[in-house]
Amino acid sequence: MYTVNLNDLTPEQFLAQYWQKKPLLIRGGFTDFKDPISADELAGLAMEEQIESRLVWQKDGQWQAEHGPFEDYSHLGDKDWSLLIQGTDHFDADVAELIRPFRFIPNWRIDDVMVSFATPGGGVGPHVDNYDVFIIQGSGKRHWQVGSNEQLTEVVAHQALLHVETFDPIIDVELMPGDILYIPPGFPHQGVAIEPSMSFSVGFRTTSKAHLFSALADHIIDNQLNTDMVIDPYRQVTTKPGLLDQQDFDNLKQSLKEVINDDQKLADFFGQHFSQAKHELDLEPLEDDFSTDELLEVLQNDQQLIRIGGLRSVYLIDALAEGSIYINGEKFMLSEALSPALQLFADHSELSYQQLAPWLKQPEFVTFVSQLINAGYWYITE
Ligand code: SIN
Ligand code: CO
Repeated sequence: MYTVNLNDLTPEQFLAQYWQKKPLLIRGGFTDFKDPISADELAGLAMEEQIESRLVWQKDGQWQAEHGPFEDYSHLGDKDWSLLIQGTDHFDADVAELIRPFRFIPNWRIDDVMVSFATPGGGVGPHVDNYDVFIIQGSGKRHWQVGSNEQLTEVVAHQALLHVETFDPIIDVELMPGDILYIPPGFPHQGVAIEPSMSFSVGFRTTSKAHLFSALADHIIDNQLNTDMVIDPYRQVTTKPGLLDQQDFDNLKQSLKEVINDDQKLADFFGQHFSQAKHELDLEPLEDDFSTDELLEVLQNDQQLIRIGGLRSVYLIDALAEGSIYINGEKFMLSEALSPALQLFADHSELSYQQLAPWLKQPEFVTFVSQLINAGYWYITE
């Protein structure tokens, strides 16, 4: 199990001083760090169609990038290229473990673990991300530079690579295994491998306000909400037919506010939207559904329930009190009395018989748990 030391800062101090504010170099954040996945295993994942992989290299001083799947790297030689795989936590339980020390940030803000392997000289070039990231250095060494968050000119280095012009580094370091670099959004950075090296990026996500609005609009349409029309029974004669006057403006604005002000609807939207997985889940639904009797039997044998990597579960306090939880974009509604049991499925990624025992006499709960197992969202330890 991984634990992290954030330069002796408490998570509270880290959030107050650095989160979304300034980069932080954390030497030896992980003690005795061992790669949770090898470069060969990474290459194996890159062969899969449904896994998002990217190769970045330079040829005659020109940046090149290509999306996977990939079978062979021999044409690239042994330097100046790197292989990057998104959502590796979805496909490898050991990689998913890297998120655990950062769970002081809620599920809905966590994006994925991107793993990169780079040969000497390899990297993706100087760029800016919109997201916070903890870059954990695995085996090998990489030279990292991070600049200040001033506006930089963007450069299209390749149609799949948006770079920024060179920047003056405020951090200029060689990362060793177990070191961590925290980079908030907007700070330009670039890593170049010094020797064959692995790097694990625990990334966070948020959204632009425009996308949030657009996703809310989709939610409203999909669920046929707010279908009532905007009306104007107050209408007076106008002498300026071209004018949309202040009263109409206020009426239209009020209609939009009514759409936004419905907290119950927003809770459902946030719960469903932010519990959606980033990448395809590596689900293995059971061939024969697990019966509730089988579940009880297995759990009593002291086996654990484990949440698969990348599955998101989210609850909001009022909705939870009513017995609702959001899992993988879907709302599950049970009896109010089961709220504390539902909460376990979002706050934990492993559950023991002891934790579940108080509720296992309730058929509704046992049915819910078997539903999660039959869908492949949770599995029982071997
Ligand atoms: C990398 O691992 O090479 C890229 C990570 C990043 O810059 O965000
Ligand atoms: Co980056």
